[in-house]
Amino acid sequence: MKKPWLVVTVTGVAALTTLALAGSRYGGAPPSPPAPVVAQPIAFSHSTHAGQFRIDCQYCHFSAERSVAAGIPPVSSCMGCHAVIQGRNAPEEVRKLREHWQRGEAVSWVQVYKVADHVRFPHMRHVAAHAGNLDCRVCHGAVEEMEVIQKVAQPLSMGWCVSCHRDEGASDGCSVCHY
Ligand code: HEC
Ligand code: HEC
Ligand code: HEC
Ligand code: HEC
Ligand code: HEC
Repeated sequence: MKKPWLVVTVTGVAALTTLALAGSRYGGAPPSPPAPVVAQPIAFSHSTHAGQFRIDCQYCHFSAERSVAAGIPPVSSCMGCHAVIQGRNAPEEVRKLREHWQRGEAVSWVQVYKVADHVRFPHMRHVAAHAGNLDCRVCHGAVEEMEVIQKVAQPLSMGWCVSCHRDEGASDGCSVCHY
């Protein structure tokens, strides 16, 4: 069975570094079965925004380095651009976004990554690890190539968390992760 890391196509030096890290330090997680692709209320594409237009992950997920949750950007963050940008390839999707804005309504995005309720996962501690170099891609894969976000490369199981914690010398006491 191929490792999921090798199935993800990647480009660029940063991604290759991630692959090297994945092989050497973060390997060992069992491959997870492909998760079903979720339908989102608006067809938002990471490959357009983070790939083609190279918008930084934390421009939108700005809570990741200071909060437990990475956070999904509010409609107002989108409108900084989409008050003007019509979206040539999918103007009807941008129209839906503007309608939410006009009604003052949040978009009901479907969450893809979710740990059990009795587990705590603080993003800021992970994003800060390796002096700020523990890349989002280590856990979420090559998001900038995804048209639709999919759960890849990791199962969110206890074994996955604990094996990285042991490799990294991070704490592995039960109460570190469990409420
Ligand atoms: C920094 C500017 C910027 C921000 C912020 C931004 N977008 Fe976009 N968006 C773009 C650009 C550029 C395009 C491509 C436009 C084109 O090809 O005409 C685009 C295209 C789109 C499209 C059309 C489909 C596609 O991929 O071409 C949708 C839908 C969309 N954006 C939704 C959103 C949503 C939802 C948010 C907020 C979470 C958001 N955008 C935030 C710049 C932005
Ligand atoms: C223009 C804003 C924008 C940018 C830039 C962006 N994202 Fe997102 N992200 C979103 C929106 C909106 C959603 C919710 C819709 C979806 O799942 O596609 C989302 C969802 C996600 C999710 C799934 C969350 C969940 O569990 O439901 C992950 C993981 C993620 N983004 C990671 C990244 C990474 C990594 C990058 C950089 C490579 C990035 N994002 C860049 C707006 C953005
Ligand atoms: C060490 C692994 C790891 C790293 C690194 C990581 N994440 Fe996550 N991410 C997770 C896990 C686990 C969850 C589920 C968390 C939960 O349910 O509380 C998640 C959930 C999310 C979500 C949806 C729920 C939320 O927290 O708002 C988004 C968006 C997200 N991550 C974006 C990012 C971005 C952007 C980065 C890089 C700046 C990043 N993540 C780095 C493991 C990681
Ligand atoms: C890719 C490696 C990696 C994975 C996977 C990972 N972690 Fe971590 N985690 C770390 C590192 C490194 C630190 C230590 C950061 C620091 O020293 O501040 C950490 C810190 C933490 C902390 C704070 C520990 C403390 O001492 O307060 C918690 C809680 C945590 N992780 C939970 C989780 C959970 C739950 C999962 C799985 C859903 C997970 N982690 C997956 C690398 C990882
Ligand atoms: C680094 C984080 C981490 C540490 C440390 C950790 N766990 Fe977990 N644990 C998890 C995650 C994540 C899950 C959820 C797995 C899932 O939903 O598949 C979990 C699930 C569990 C479950 C299953 C609960 C259920 O819903 O079925 C038990 C029991 C458990 N852990 C006990 C422990 C004990 C006892 C320790 C200490 C020896 C410990 N855990 C240490 C992250 C951790």
